[in-house]
Amino acid sequence: MMALWDTALEAISGRIGEAGLRHSLGVAESAAELAEAYGVDRDEARLAGLLHDWAKDSSNDELLSAAIELGIPVTDVDLAVPYLLHAPVAAAEIRLALPEVSEDVTAAIAAHTYGVVPMQPLDMIVYVADTIEPGRVHEGVEALREAVGQVSLLELFTRAYANSLRHLVETRRRIHPGTIDMWNRLVSGDAR
Ligand SMILES: [Fe+2]
Ligand SMILES: [Fe+2]
Repeated sequence: MMALWDTALEAISGRIGEAGLRHSLGVAESAAELAEAYGVDRDEARLAGLLHDWAKDSSNDELLSAAIELGIPVTDVDLAVPYLLHAPVAAAEIRLALPEVSEDVTAAIAAHTYGVVPMQPLDMIVYVADTIEPGRVHEGVEALREAVGQVSLLELFTRAYANSLRHLVETRRRIHPGTIDMWNRLVSGDAR
């Protein structure tokens, strides 16, 4: 795993800026801590955290053309906010660029914006790590950090999800149909 981490670090360093790399290393660290707290493979979580924003610096045009080329479904909201595609596009590109990366890791990367059903423990860990990594300062982040290990992973994920949904509403952003679907499943106990 060590060698794969080094290869992945080198690959991601060439793709995202300094701030992006700092965020990614923060997510890797938080994901590893969450993995330990919830009995998930630590190295897989750390690697998924490191690589999750692989496609974040791709332009809107690049994301849209990559999605079409890679057979990723593109919704109206993706067309309006192509940034949302950076998760599934990253997963598809990593499968090609770093074939040693496991399917569990790429699946967690694909799920890191609005989730997929069913949410696996690793998927939830990467999602939560993305919102609580040390560089994050948003409202509610401290409460989430304090809840690590105190509540179930599903409950922690639900709280993190509620926070981002609230933020989307408060800042009057568009909400992806996948986000609504995920939320409805979470509150009806149907997310896994
Ligand atoms: Fe992201
Ligand atoms: Fe991120």
